[in-house]
Amino acid sequence: MHLRSFSILPALVVGTALAATPAQWRSQSVYFLLTDRFARTDGSTTAACDTDARAYCGGTWQGIIDHLDYIQGMGFTAIWITPVTENLPQDTGDGTSYHGYWQQDVYSLNSNYGTPDDLRALSSALHDRGMYLMVDVVANHMGYAGPGSSVDYTVFTPFNDQKYFHPYCSISNYDDQSNVEDCWLGDSTVSLPDLDTTRSDVQDMWYSWVKGLVANYSVDGLRIDTVKHVQKDFWPGYNDAAGVYCVGEVFDGDPSSTCDYQNYLDGVLNYPMYYPLLRAFSSTSGSISDLYNMINTVKSECADSTLLGTFVENHDNPRFASYTSDISLAKNALAFTILSDGIPIIYAGQEQHYSGGNDPANREAVWLSGYSTTSELYKFIAVSNQIRNHAISVDGDDYLTYKTYPIYQDTTTLAVRKGSLITVLSNLGSSGSSYTLSLGGTGYSSGQELMEIYSCTTVTADSSGNIAVPMGSGLPKAFYPTANLGGSGICGK
Ligand code: NOJ
Repeated sequence: MHLRSFSILPALVVGTALAATPAQWRSQSVYFLLTDRFARTDGSTTAACDTDARAYCGGTWQGIIDHLDYIQGMGFTAIWITPVTENLPQDTGDGTSYHGYWQQDVYSLNSNYGTPDDLRALSSALHDRGMYLMVDVVANHMGYAGPGSSVDYTVFTPFNDQKYFHPYCSISNYDDQSNVEDCWLGDSTVSLPDLDTTRSDVQDMWYSWVKGLVANYSVDGLRIDTVKHVQKDFWPGYNDAAGVYCVGEVFDGDPSSTCDYQNYLDGVLNYPMYYPLLRAFSSTSGSISDLYNMINTVKSECADSTLLGTFVENHDNPRFASYTSDISLAKNALAFTILSDGIPIIYAGQEQHYSGGNDPANREAVWLSGYSTTSELYKFIAVSNQIRNHAISVDGDDYLTYKTYPIYQDTTTLAVRKGSLITVLSNLGSSGSSYTLSLGGTGYSSGQELMEIYSCTTVTADSSGNIAVPMGSGLPKAFYPTANLGGSGICGK
């Protein structure tokens, strides 16, 4: 098979690739958006977008460029955008390919989002701000408007022959790994033809493709789709060819199976933490101890918990606010996401307390919020990223590679330490009563002055380093040594 480079692109690499390493990504904070749903080139904040229609709503790469202030204003240092390759063109019984996961030509870009120059301009605009670009990539499958039994393979570029694919079968048993790897995702309306990634020609094509993508668009990192549907030994070669940090989607809450993929890729999305995190804070009766225990489990099972992608919302699961409208609970879930181990990932719309349920309802257009920078969660995220970014700049690896250490739990409270930052969380909700928690195991010294950064309240550690934590209205608290806050802009420092 003749290997093509991106036919629509000059062979020369343009722009400055930061080509970021895992160590460089460890300190980032990521805003994840669906390109079709974040911002339009015309800047509209009123253009209709009916999520149920599963249609293209008009978001573009240029639209993202025009709203980087909004993203950076929350303290994010990177964005993750949905796949960029050309997708199937039909309007199917499952809707259109607005999300980008149904690719047909991996050497062309999805023109609904803009031109190759627009994507390069996005990368440059981010780099000009010192921010990173993470692109979503799919190696497991292509997309076809029709059942798996009647695919016309000539529509695919470059995999234009049946020989590149596993024979059609629908995944029927998620406990059987070869069934998960060799059979197909999708349904009879849109099938996802499953590439035979054990073939050396398929591997060669993918490895050179991903290298070209990273070079041609100055991509700094990759989010890899459907990782558990491809055999593990495919991934190290892919990660190496990419030459940038790769975080894989292993849609599985079992820490032992998901963590194992970190032996093949730089990082994985922290699905093991997602479920207990969601359960702990999505109701006032959620289990704190399950979350406490999972912190320790992930630390011991995963090769490096500080390189995982931490999240409580994404486009494949109901939004947090679909479970509860309580703003204090939302803040606790956000504080955990941003201030615990790993790379925080916040899903666009989370800052506006969007409440869509299952896909497709959870893919609301962000422009319909008017991009408010005064909404409660926008401001809360900004402060949370601000203290994280500051702790990183002051403490460096003493913060970044410090593995979150749970220091206290009761049925409604969790306290964790990461470096010199202590986060205290509650699931009592907005109507939660006020009380003072006496917290030991802080690592603070006798008489040390701490700032509670969300309320700008000062507390002083007692002779044992313990602090009195004023809890109320179910709000989270985060403490950091006042003496080290200088220049942070936090609480006027
Ligand atoms: C996981 C993606 O996040 C999801 O949105 C997509 O539909 C599937 N993988 C298939 O590509």
